Amino acid sequence: MLNVKNVDVTINKRPIIKNVSFSVYPGEVLGFIGPNGAGKSTLIKAISHIVRYRGSIQWHGQSLKQMSAKARARFLSYVPQSLELDIPFTVFDAVYMGRFPYKSNRLENEKIVKKALDRVGILHLQDRIVATLSGGQKQLVAMAKAIAQDAQILILDEPTSALDLYFQLQLLDMMKELAEEGRLVLLAIHDLSYAYRFCDRLTLMENGQLTHLGFPKDVITTKRLQETYHVYTKIYEDHHTTAVIPLRVIE
Ligand SMILES: Nc1ncnc2c1ncn2[C@@H]1O[C@H](COP(=O)(O)OP(=O)(O)OP(=O)(O)O)[C@@H](O)[C@H]1O
Ligand SMILES: [Mg+2]
Repeated sequence: MLNVKNVDVTINKRPIIKNVSFSVYPGEVLGFIGPNGAGKSTLIKAISHIVRYRGSIQWHGQSLKQMSAKARARFLSYVPQSLELDIPFTVFDAVYMGRFPYKSNRLENEKIVKKALDRVGILHLQDRIVATLSGGQKQLVAMAKAIAQDAQILILDEPTSALDLYFQLQLLDMMKELAEEGRLVLLAIHDLSYAYRFCDRLTLMENGQLTHLGFPKDVITTKRLQETYHVYTKIYEDHHTTAVIPLRVIE
């Protein structure tokens, strides 16, 4: 279980995350939704130990703060919204970086990297320089790196924002599979239809606070979307899916 307790993040003396607590279990996909600037990225960066926080974050009772970065990387992998690499790394090398927490068995690691590239559908890009890829392709490289890292907790910041429809669905299906394999998947996501469909539970963030946590049908309601996003929406449901249709802004 991942246990986040009383987490605060302060940047330049401004409280950005305020007293956030929740627990989540392996096998779950937990989505973070909320308006721009609500604190989703900052909270998931705190959980990923990229920004400093006060409070406690434990994985099966073990404090993540007290682990070395290398030890933590065996538990947790963070996928940023865009992978910016200044060094002219190839796709293969970038994904190979995901193997850094493990012993260096070159042949074994290469096999794992190829498998991750194949699973994400970008094996054909393996010799390309990451900096020359499209935004969506870079997002897929970051995802392949996380898969090669083979961590129990995957944390993704808007993983579908630069992807076309095919790769959006492919990536979200893959996340579900990874959760079904017993991993924990946390992701920030703006698309509420996808949030509804692919997340087991959702957390709604507003002004640095976690205001609601529950099943998608309980968190996403037209009334709450009016209050939180200041938008009128229609929630469309049929036997196959639920979609959140934005209608117009509330003046
Ligand atoms: N390094 C920083 N320095 C100053 N302010 C910051 C920093 N990082 C985040 N913030 C502020 O913290 C607040 C939360 O930002 P955050 O990126 O976590 O929001 P978000 O919910 O991810 O938004 P979005 O949906 O736009 O990605 C914003 O007001 C942002 O300006
Ligand atoms: Mg963000």
